Amino acid sequence: MADEKEIQEKTIAEDIVVTKYKSAGEIVNKTLKAVIGFCVADASVRDICTKSDNLILEETNKVFKKEKDLKKGIAFPTCISVNNCVCHFSPTKNDPDYVLKTGDVVKIDLGAHIDGFIAVVAHTLIVGASADNKATGKKADVVLAAYNAVQTALRLLKSGNSNYLVTEAVQKVAETYKCKPIEGMLSHQLKQFKIDGEKTIIQNPSEAQRKEHEKCNFETHEVYAIDVIISSGEGVGREKDTKVAIYKKTDENYQLKLKASRSFYAEVSFYLILVFYNRL
Ligand SMILES: *[C@@H]1O[C@H](CO)[C@@H](O)[C@H](O)[C@H]1NC(C)=O
Repeated sequence: MADEKEIQEKTIAEDIVVTKYKSAGEIVNKTLKAVIGFCVADASVRDICTKSDNLILEETNKVFKKEKDLKKGIAFPTCISVNNCVCHFSPTKNDPDYVLKTGDVVKIDLGAHIDGFIAVVAHTLIVGASADNKATGKKADVVLAAYNAVQTALRLLKSGNSNYLVTEAVQKVAETYKCKPIEGMLSHQLKQFKIDGEKTIIQNPSEAQRKEHEKCNFETHEVYAIDVIISSGEGVGREKDTKVAIYKKTDENYQLKLKASRSFYAEVSFYLILVFYNRL
């Protein structure tokens, strides 16, 4: 069974797969551009996330229309995480919103897929900053550190290189700006319909994480999503009371016993169906 699966796995060795990745890439690039424009003082983060997710659906609707059974759409809901919030802030209809202020450091993160081939993009900006009104100090340092760390990581993502080469390079760049990569964050290999493939790149691992985390070399035709998150602080995430709005469905089956669990599951499934209808 496992062998059969291995043989059927589609990679960028096939042109059609490259075409689908490119199409997803163009869509997230276009959406990101629009979202950057939405990030101004007094804008609602919830509105921005909603508009962005709708854009992804609209754009993915326009491509590969002839293939009726082909799945496409949102691969990762739009997140707008501000200042100390590390990532994954994407308030739903009933969650508390956040209104952007001048000087906020805004991290945008979103993903689209065509036939399960995923493109994700991220970008950091400072609200109100421009060529005439440049960001300064720690905020400017942390954004530059992240930019240069990503550029370095991208150049090291070559077949034969080890994942720890990227780990060490990102660390060095961050330290040049007196910043720290967020401890333990992982960049994952991407596969068709899989946003968290088995090979990963860790950033700023603790001693324990370094022992646990698997070393590997990159290979031809593998695809990765590089996730670099840099902090001007200690670089260690702490749990706060903000509500989580992003969940991942596992393949596990479980008999739900509580009425509340069943109604929650129904709500989540309903939302997935809505997204699916939007796609048609
Ligand atoms: C998306 O934008 C990035 C950054 O500008 C660029 O390097 C990349 O080629 C673009 N991807 C596509 C598929 O247009």
